[in-house]
Order: sequence, then structure tokens, then C-alpha cells
Amino acid sequence: MSQITACLLFILLVLAQAYARDTITPSESLNDGDLLVSSDETFALGFFSTTPGHKYVGIWYNNISVKTKVWVANRQTPITDSNVSLVITSNGTLAVTTSNSTILWSVNSSSSSVVTNPVAKLLDTGNFVVTSNSSEESFAWQSFDYPTDTLLPGMKLGYDLRTGLNRNLTAWKSETDPSPGDDCVAMNIHGDPELTVFFGYVKRWRSGPWTGDDFNGIPEMSTYTKTGFSFKFVDNSNEIYYSYDMSNKSILTRLMANNTGRVQRWVWTGQTWSLFWSMPNNACEYGKCGAYSTCDPNASPICACLDGFEPKSSTNWNLGDWSDGCMRKHRLDCVNGTDGFLVVKKAMLPDTSNSTVDRSLSLDQCRTTCLRNCSCTGYSNADVRNGGSGCIIWSTKIMDLRLFRLYEYGGQDFFVRLAAQDIESNSHESKTRVAIITVCTVVGFLLLVLTGYCILKRKKSRGTTVPVYYSKTDHNMGESNGGMKDVELPLIDFGTLMTATNNFSTENLLGEGGFGPVYKGKIGAGQEIAVKRLSKDSVQGIDEFKNEVMLIAKLQHRNLVRLQGYCIQGEEIMLIYEYMANGSLDAFLFDKSRGTLLDWKTRFHIIAGVARGLLYLHQDSRLRVIHRDLKASNILLDKDMNPKISDFGMARISAGDEIITKTRRVVGTYGYMSPEYAMDGIFSVKSDVYSYGVLVLELISGQKNRGVFLSQPHLYLLGNAWKLWNEGRCLELIDPLISSYFSQSEVMKCIHIGLLCVQECPEDRPTMQSVAFMIDSSDPSLPKPKKPGFIAKRDSSESSSCSTKKELYSVDDETITAVTGR
Ligand SMILES: *[C@@H]1O[C@H](CO)[C@@H](O)[C@H](O)[C@H]1NC(C)=O
Ligand SMILES: *[C@@H]1O[C@H](CO)[C@@H](O)[C@H](O)[C@H]1NC(C)=O
Ligand SMILES: *[C@@H]1O[C@H](CO)[C@@H](O)[C@H](O)[C@H]1NC(C)=O
Ligand SMILES: *[C@@H]1O[C@H](CO)[C@@H](O)[C@H](O)[C@H]1NC(C)=O
Ligand SMILES: *[C@@H]1O[C@H](CO)[C@@H](O)[C@H](O)[C@H]1NC(C)=O
Ligand SMILES: *[C@@H]1O[C@H](CO)[C@@H](O)[C@H](O)[C@H]1NC(C)=O
Ligand SMILES: *[C@@H]1O[C@H](CO)[C@@H](O)[C@H](O)[C@H]1NC(C)=O
Ligand SMILES: *[C@@H]1O[C@H](CO)[C@@H](O)[C@H](O)[C@H]1NC(C)=O
Ligand SMILES: *[C@@H]1O[C@H](CO)[C@@H](O)[C@H](O)[C@H]1NC(C)=O
Ligand SMILES: *[C@@H]1O[C@H](CO)[C@@H](O)[C@H](O)[C@H]1NC(C)=O
Ligand SMILES: *[C@@H]1O[C@H](CO)[C@@H](O)[C@H](O)[C@H]1NC(C)=O
Ligand SMILES: *[C@@H]1O[C@H](CO)[C@@H](O)[C@H](O)[C@H]1NC(C)=O
Repeated sequence: MSQITACLLFILLVLAQAYARDTITPSESLNDGDLLVSSDETFALGFFSTTPGHKYVGIWYNNISVKTKVWVANRQTPITDSNVSLVITSNGTLAVTTSNSTILWSVNSSSSSVVTNPVAKLLDTGNFVVTSNSSEESFAWQSFDYPTDTLLPGMKLGYDLRTGLNRNLTAWKSETDPSPGDDCVAMNIHGDPELTVFFGYVKRWRSGPWTGDDFNGIPEMSTYTKTGFSFKFVDNSNEIYYSYDMSNKSILTRLMANNTGRVQRWVWTGQTWSLFWSMPNNACEYGKCGAYSTCDPNASPICACLDGFEPKSSTNWNLGDWSDGCMRKHRLDCVNGTDGFLVVKKAMLPDTSNSTVDRSLSLDQCRTTCLRNCSCTGYSNADVRNGGSGCIIWSTKIMDLRLFRLYEYGGQDFFVRLAAQDIESNSHESKTRVAIITVCTVVGFLLLVLTGYCILKRKKSRGTTVPVYYSKTDHNMGESNGGMKDVELPLIDFGTLMTATNNFSTENLLGEGGFGPVYKGKIGAGQEIAVKRLSKDSVQGIDEFKNEVMLIAKLQHRNLVRLQGYCIQGEEIMLIYEYMANGSLDAFLFDKSRGTLLDWKTRFHIIAGVARGLLYLHQDSRLRVIHRDLKASNILLDKDMNPKISDFGMARISAGDEIITKTRRVVGTYGYMSPEYAMDGIFSVKSDVYSYGVLVLELISGQKNRGVFLSQPHLYLLGNAWKLWNEGRCLELIDPLISSYFSQSEVMKCIHIGLLCVQECPEDRPTMQSVAFMIDSSDPSLPKPKKPGFIAKRDSSESSSCSTKKELYSVDDETITAVTGR
């Protein structure tokens, strides 16, 4: 009997050993060589050494191949003794002791309250905490309050004003020395709080103040929220801090101070850490351009004096040393009150550390307040949400004012105070422009009033004679539109469209799309529209059509062409879209003269925009729309060259599946169609990814991916790109029309992404989410691409490497022709 008990006890002991523990108690210390592992096995805590003889207590990721330290307890006091252990004393002190109980390092828990029955526990978040009881309600002490160089999800970066705790990140001195280095990422709480990167106590970079949803200087945050990040900024009388979270806990990410003087975000890709974001990332570092100047990394020179200012030392300035900055041409005249303001558009706000914030003021009140105070040098909105509110007033020199490009997100109006003479000289040139704008506004206003009147009148008369024409949102779809805006899609009558398009005259014809001709039109107060006149046989039943159109109208995204209305009259079926001033991408891309207008910056902007639009279609909208005909002619450009995807959802209207089976016609365009789709009509989000890859390579090379059945695959785009890639000469792919500056690494990254997207096997291709991720990270580590899928005649010797649907690739030309019917 006792033998059995002993045996059971032994088994229990062995089992207990197999499960790593996550707590230390006064009776159970942690010896050198043992590990604490958090309950979900994400983090581990133990002793480590980077140089022989120097021991540290640290936390790292438990489950990944790279031992990445996220926290070091005793970074300044390495332990040199052997046979040490981490203990918690009965009064709650965490300490590293030798075998004879000499304390080598220790931290006190909560100084105010007595800690009873202390337990130290490593949580799943990576937080190492001391609690009074094992209840995790309140912590007597936590490692999250003493960050080293890494900010994990849920950690706070900033101040606890009640306790005076300042949580900041300080880089390791070197790869092997965890002691504090020069680089520090901290919350600067003077004035309007902002994140600041210091390098040896010298400011190097600022995030700009928090202006509602993100930091004014990090507009890309708004796109990161789409990939699962959420950001938090708290500024009240108790605390001022920033923190972030990741919705998918299995994606590991960390923000850290790098000893090269940068703040960086890394994301674990499964094999390595990939650099997702890194600041500063361009020449516009703090102080580069001195005071009263703007910095634009894409301009040449990057620094410019603000209007009304001139270089302090023109010799230095002309030599490219801009640090002296600029000074006023004329002194302010506060006494007589003649000063005025000049607006700087799309500005990253200047250093706010000496600014004052009043969230109750409007922009107008802000202006008056500034004019009243002689030391005020500029002002802006403190919050940009809902049209802007609140007031920031600068009263010292304007430092570190940066500019965003027109088509970049972010930036806001900043108002610089100037003497009356300087404003006059500046507005002189723009006076005529102002006059024109004023006249236009007045005329526009009159027109608006007029049309408003007309519409009202018409609506009234309609009410009596015509049954409901302005249809409400679709009732059937009420539940399934989660995450999407409810829209009222107007039914526009045929007569209006006749007038708008001048009876569908040929002058108004914009082009012939896959589903019918598209006309330009003008309605109301000159609002421009595009009218797509569907050919009658391309649409199935009217009811299904209406349902689909309502669904398509709910797909709203910056990178999708917006559907504004529709029209059904007898056999006429029309869709009304917003008009895109710059037409379609192919008209630029494949044109020798217009191609030069697409510099690399713009092309990259298009690559990124289309990725976002497609990601939205695939994933962010509830509908999960597969485009099926993504190509350069379906990318439209607005007046600022923002790309917008058109013709999405058309496959739904025409009920593509049935068309394939009935007419054997595949929706799509050769050159852009993935092999599995062209051959077999198998489509998935991955066939869109393929088309996107082709588009990316076309944008880089300026060449059209034509060529079905070429006997020499390397003569057409994908084959050529693949060949150059393998020979390490892929920069030769670049369109010779891109003459101005381009970033080699950006181009290389895009070629790499393009090749990943056109891989033969759909399962090898990345999802659009990964693609968006890769585009956004500044230095992603990407897998090696495999051979692209060509729709070309194959040698019988060449077998497909793709596991699925192998037989598909051995079809002959005739089969394909039969399938396409084009
Ligand atoms: C950690 O790795 C082990 C095996 O390597 C695996 O069984 C476990 O699921 C992983 N845990 C997490 C949280 O990824
Ligand atoms: C707790 O106990 C340790 C040693 O047992 C001692 O060094 C330390 O001062 C004590 N801390 C407090 C807050 O009393
Ligand atoms: C380490 O310390 C433990 C007691 O804390 C002791 O039993 C053991 O002999 C020591 N080992 C060495 C190598 O000193
Ligand atoms: C404890 O051991 C260390 C060496 O590990 C020694 O230097 C120290 O004097 C010892 N202290 C006591 C109280 O024995
Ligand atoms: C811990 O608290 C004790 C008593 O208040 C104090 O003497 C000691 O210096 C503290 N230790 C640390 C590391 O703060
Ligand atoms: C902690 O545990 C002790 C004894 O187990 C108990 O008396 C005390 O109320 C507990 N405290 C809290 C905060 O739960
Ligand atoms: C970072 O935090 C430490 C400890 O709170 C503090 O001594 C240091 O001054 C802080 N650095 C900055 C730049 O705020
Ligand atoms: C979370 O990310 C992992 C790895 O990237 C992925 O496999 C998983 O599907 C994601 N889970 C959710 C709910 O998105
Ligand atoms: C610091 O940044 C450089 C360049 O981005 C990178 O190679 C290096 O690994 C980073 N250091 C750490 C400790 O992450
Ligand atoms: C204010 O106006 C008066 C009269 O126009 C002028 O003489 C004076 O110089 C002005 N003051 C300043 C500070 O410019
Ligand atoms: C002008 O602004 C400065 C800085 O914000 C402030 O200290 C001063 O009190 C203000 N003066 C007046 C008259 O409001
Ligand atoms: C803010 O004020 C301090 C102290 O007067 C000064 O040293 C610093 O240069 C000022 N910063 C800016 C950006 O004006």
C-alpha cells in the first residue's frame, strides 16, 4: 500500500516537473539554470549572460528561435557570483542571492503597503509581477513599470504623475552590454506631450502631439490599425502615457529603442524579426533646418525658410548647413496689432514643448488669443477630429516643422504669425489666385442655391406623381452590413443622365469598359460623374441586380471608386460613379510621354493604395469580394493621383460562376489572370493577388504583361522579371522613364513582393494582408519567391511544381482558347 502511495507521489512529482512553473514564492526560489514560463508559454524568465561571467535576470520570448530579451532586471549591476538564485522574501522584496543568502541585487515592492504572502509571477503579457496574494488584481510591484529597451503590448510609455514614475525605453549600450546606452525613447510632457527620441540627451525625433486618433507626425498609425494594431494615448491629471495592443495575440510585436538612435517596431514573421517601422527614417532630423524653417525630405534642398523669413546666415545656409535657421524679414508689430498669419498646409506641427494647450477654444478663438499675446508665434488645432477643435499656441521659436506631401496622409494647417509687410509681399503673388477663387466660390454658391431650389421643387412634384424613386437603403441587407456604412444609394432617373451626358454623346465617351461604355457627365452644380451603361445581356435579373448594387455601394474605401447611384429604365441599366480626373492608370503607364509623369514616389503610392483597396475588398469589408479583373485599366487616378480600384463587384452583378458554366467565358483579362483561373476558372483571393503582382511589376517596369503562348517566356514581363531576379540584376527592370530619384531598396522590395504574388501555386502567394504588411514595413525580411505561374505553352519535360491541379497545366492551346472565347 505504502509502495503504491510512494509510486503515485513519484509520478505526481515527475508530472509537476514536466510543467514549467510561472511563480516564485518565499519557499520556492528560482535557481540559475531554471526557468519560469508564463502559462501560455509565450514568455520565459531566467538567468542569462551575454559576456562570460556577467549574469543578468531577464525575460525573453519562450517559443521563438531567436532569444530576444524584452526586459532585464539588473541591467546596471551584473552578477559575477556563481550558484545564485532569484528569491522573494516574505516582505515582498525581490532579490538575487548567493547560496549563503548575501543579497547581490534587490528591488522593494510597494513601499506604502505591507505585502503579505507575496508571490512573484510571470504573466502571459510578459509582465513579471509581485502580488500580495496570487490574486492578480493589484500588483505590489511589476516589471512593466521599469521597462528596459522594449515596449510590449499593454505596457505604458510615459508618466504616472501621482508617483512620479517615468517609464521610458533606453537602448542597450551594445549587443552584449544591457547597461543603458545613449538612445532613449521617452514621453516629453512639457507643453503638449509628444514621444521623443533622445540620443545622448539631444533630441533627435519627435512624434508630434496626439491630435485625436494618432500622433500628428505618425499618420501611418491609422493604416496600422487595419492590420490589427490599436493605439492608446492617455493625458489626464493622473497619467500621461502611450500604449498599444495587437488584436491577434499570436502575432508578436515590440517597440524598442535602438542604439543607433531610433525607435523601431519589429514584427515576428515566423523565422525572423522583421523591421516594420523605424524613426527617424529620413534626413529631417530634429534641428536639421534650425528655427522658423520647414523640412521636406523629398525636396531639394530639404530645408526652406518659412515665407516671411530669411536665412540667418546665408553663407552657411547655401553651404547646406541649415542649423542656424531663419529669421523674420520684418519685426512683429504687437502694439499696433497689425500682425497676421500665413498658413502652412499639411504640416507636422513644430516642437510643442513650450506650447500651451486650451482644448475649449475654437480655431478662431485660438487666432484671437494668439494675436493678443505678444509672445505668440503660431497656433493650430489641438484635435483634428470632426473638423478640428482645441488650440495649441506656440510662444517660442518654431522648431522642427516638417511637411507632408499632398498625397500622404496626415499633416494639418499650422498658422505662423507674420508682420503685415511680410504677409502683403507673400499674398501679392497669390492675390489674383485669391480673386479667382473668390469669384468661383460665389458663383458656385449661387449655383448650389439654385440647384438646391430645383431639387426641392422637383422632389415635391415627384411626391405626388411618381411612386418612391429615391430608394432607401436596402432592407434585406440590414443585418449583414456590420463594419460597413449604411448608404442611401439614389436611383437616378434616365432623363437626368441623358442631360448630364449630353444624350450619351461620343464627346462624353470616356472609354469602353468590360461591361459597356462609360460616359462623363455633369449633374447638379457641375458635379462630375462617370456613367457606366451596362450592356443588357451582361446583367441578370433586375432584383438580383438591385441587391448586388446595394452591396457594392456599401463598399466604401479611399482606394475604391465610389458608386454614387444607379438607374434602371426599361432595358437600360446604368451605374453612376464618382468621376476620376486623371483617368485610368494604363493611359499613363504605357504611354511614352505621360509615363514620365509617374515618378517613383507616385508609383509606390499607387502600389500601396491598390494593396489597401484590395485588402479592404478581401478582408475588411464583410462581403469578401474577389475582384477577378484587376488590371491597370481598372485603376483610376483622381486629381491628386490617388489610385482607386474600379469595376469591383462587377463579377457579382454578372454572376460570374454561371457565366463560366454557361458561356465558358472567364471574367478577367489575359496577362493578369492566374494560371489556375485562366485554365480552370478556379478563382480565389489568391487569383486577385496574382493580378496585383502583375500590376506591381508593370508599375515598376512600365511594360505591359502581354503574351500568352510565347515560346520564349523570358521575353515577356514575368519571365523577364524572374530571369533578372535570378541573375541578381533586377534593378534593370526599372522603367527608363523613372528618371528622377528613387529609393533602390523600395524598388527592390516591390519587385520582391511582385514576384511573391505571381508565384505559380496559389498557396505560395501571400495574402493581401501580408502584402500590405510588407509594403508598410521599411525593411521586411521576405521569403524567396518561387517560379512565377505563366500562362504559356509548356514543354512536356517541364512539370509543374504545384501540388494541386497538376493536370491543368498540360492543356493545349485549343482548350484555353475555347475557355476564353476572347
Ligand atoms: C510553443 O512551442 C511548442 C512546441 O515547440 C508548442 O507545442 C506550443 O503550442 C507553442 N506555444 C505557443 C504559445 O506558441
Ligand atoms: C525586506 O527584507 C529584506 C531582507 O529580508 C530587507 O533587506 C529589506 O530591507 C526588507 N524590506 C522592507 C521594505 O522592509
Ligand atoms: C549551490 O547552493 C546550494 C544551496 O543553495 C548548495 O546545495 C549547492 O551545493 C551549491 N552548489 C555549488 C556548486 O556551490
Ligand atoms: C557569502 O559568500 C560570498 C562568496 O560567495 C562571500 O564573499 C561572503 O563573505 C559570504 N558571506 C557570508 C556571510 O558568509
Ligand atoms: C528597500 O527598502 C529598505 C527599507 O525601506 C531600504 O533600506 C532599501 O534601501 C530599499 N532598497 C531598494 C533597492 O530600494
Ligand atoms: C491575502 O491572504 C491572506 C491570508 O491568506 C488573507 O488574510 C488576506 O485577506 C488576503 N488579502 C487579499 C487582498 O486578498
Ligand atoms: C528615463 O527614465 C529614467 C528613470 O525614470 C530617468 O532617470 C531618465 O531621466 C529618463 N530619461 C528621459 C529622457 O526622460
Ligand atoms: C493570428 O495570426 C496567426 C499567424 O499570423 C494566424 O495564423 C491566425 O489565423 C490569426 N488569427 C486571427 C484570429 O486572425
Ligand atoms: C538596430 O537597428 C539596426 C538597423 O535597423 C538593426 O540592424 C539592429 O539589429 C538593431 N538593433 C537591435 C538591438 O535591434
Ligand atoms: C505703430 O504704428 C505707428 C504709427 O503708424 C508707427 O509709428 C510705429 O512704429 C508702429 N509701431 C511698431 C512697433 O511698429
Ligand atoms: C503669453 O503667453 C505666454 C506663454 O504662453 C504666457 O506665459 C503669458 O502669460 C501670456 N501673456 C498674456 C498676457 O496672456
Ligand atoms: C523651450 O524653452 C526652453 C527654456 O526656455 C529653451 O531652452 C528651449 O530651447 C525651448 N524650446 C523650444 C523648442 O523653443
